[in-house]
Amino acid sequence: MKDFDYLKKDEVYLDSACQSLRPRPVIEALNEYYTRHNSCGERVKYEWGVITDEKVEKTREKVLKYTKKSSRHYFVSFTLNTTYGLNLILSQIDVKKSGIKTIVTSDIEHNSPFLSTISCAKKNKIPRKVVKRNIDGSINLEDIPEKALVVVNCASNIDGRLLVNIKDVVKRVHKTGGYIIIDAAQTMAHSVEILYGVEPDAICFSAHKMYAPSLGGMIIKKDFAKLIDTTFIGGGMVDDVDKNTYLLSKDNKEHLYTQFEAGLQAWGEIIGLGAAIDWLEGLTRKEHEALEKNVERLWQIIKNKEKLHLINEQPATTMSFYVDKKEMGIDSHVLGAALADAGIMARTGYFCVHYYLDHVKHYPPLIRFSLGYHITDEDIDRVEEALKNF
Ligand SMILES: Cc1ncc(COP(=O)(O)O)c(C=O)c1O
Repeated sequence: MKDFDYLKKDEVYLDSACQSLRPRPVIEALNEYYTRHNSCGERVKYEWGVITDEKVEKTREKVLKYTKKSSRHYFVSFTLNTTYGLNLILSQIDVKKSGIKTIVTSDIEHNSPFLSTISCAKKNKIPRKVVKRNIDGSINLEDIPEKALVVVNCASNIDGRLLVNIKDVVKRVHKTGGYIIIDAAQTMAHSVEILYGVEPDAICFSAHKMYAPSLGGMIIKKDFAKLIDTTFIGGGMVDDVDKNTYLLSKDNKEHLYTQFEAGLQAWGEIIGLGAAIDWLEGLTRKEHEALEKNVERLWQIIKNKEKLHLINEQPATTMSFYVDKKEMGIDSHVLGAALADAGIMARTGYFCVHYYLDHVKHYPPLIRFSLGYHITDEDIDRVEEALKNF
């Protein structure tokens, strides 16, 4: 694809689940900020600042439109990444005020929700429950206790498994007096549709996994934000400050998003996210189909090799497998290094899902291929060639 024309012919980047490659228009938007209107948002009156403010505001609107969320009920804040967003919520939520009795996560979670829910449970002295995810990614509704704070992904970074019954899960949580935060880190680039028509209390995501610069995003329900006791504070969040007191803008019913935006923000990166959303929305049917075709082809290649143990039940842009050291004399790390020598950039290990992959499934270290729109037919040929001896 022309927007990734900076890639060399022999570079096969298969680590999009960690960070997607940035297409030219996103890099140009970032460049434009740095070279044409490098300025602080929300504070300055000169022209550069006015341009920055307009573009940042537009990006907030684009995030809501992209996920089909209404500005009546939600606002968008920016932060560092998904992990930071989840921690901002879980470390500040007023568990007593919200009536939360249990914190719930699932067994296939990334360390990001997995660890932050452990920390939240300990701090608030409430029980934590780890529910099982079914092969199809769904959660059994009866596993969700009453008045639970549920924190789960809607797409897995192991095998792209989706929370296929997300609508019912959200309904069940709300009906039983609970709240639900969705980890959408792996959803925003290739499966955003799963978020349509559902109203979780918060959605946390990483812009760097959706073709945008390094940045985190949070889509928060206004009512849910009221349950968060804002203690992580500083510049950019207040309307007034006296010797020992302050008035937060959000308490003044102004700029609600400032509740999670302490200090100067990554204005250029936020604007870059706006450009990435435009780019994603402008992709043609042919470009979507090309990615689907390459995903299917690579999945078949791995699936048909007896010595590569594929985790995915279904093709997905993210797929993981392992080689058995006893069978092959090498482990996935060695294979990963050999692939790297052939110009194929893939991840090896447990991809920050230690609990499930290591302690539940007892898998040896794995290899993960994660694809993006930059992948060409020739890239898949190269992978096929590199794996020909398996
Ligand atoms: C499902 C999932 N959740 C959370 C994260 C954490 O994202 P970040 O490191 O950008 O905070 C990742 C990163 O790979 C992920 O795949």
